[in-house]
Amino acid sequence: MADTAAQLICDADALQNGGRGVRFSIGEEAAFVIRHDGVVYGYLNRCRHVPIELDWQDGRFFDSSGDYLVCSMHGALYLPHNGYCIAGPCGGQALQALTVAERDGRIYYLPQPLAR
Ligand code: FES
Repeated sequence: MADTAAQLICDADALQNGGRGVRFSIGEEAAFVIRHDGVVYGYLNRCRHVPIELDWQDGRFFDSSGDYLVCSMHGALYLPHNGYCIAGPCGGQALQALTVAERDGRIYYLPQPLAR
């Protein structure tokens, strides 16, 4: 991969549609990647209601339908493809999206300035 700043997260086959996510760190920040409709998405692991991590068990970001990301604390539902909250106490807000890429059978985080 040409971008030497890219951070390897995991093998591509570690992510299945609607399945477990993979957690990783960006400095002090917790983050995760998931796969939805074949595409890999990455977000900071920080709910927009209270800034805690979303997963109720390590890597469990999807609800039982496999269609939405869910916060384990109060059940906020987020769209997996853009991070927008569609139900729960943080409706209208969105998870902090990260730039990730799938290349040569691996998933990478591509560092960008993080919005606050
Ligand atoms: S902390 Fe996530 S919904 Fe309240």
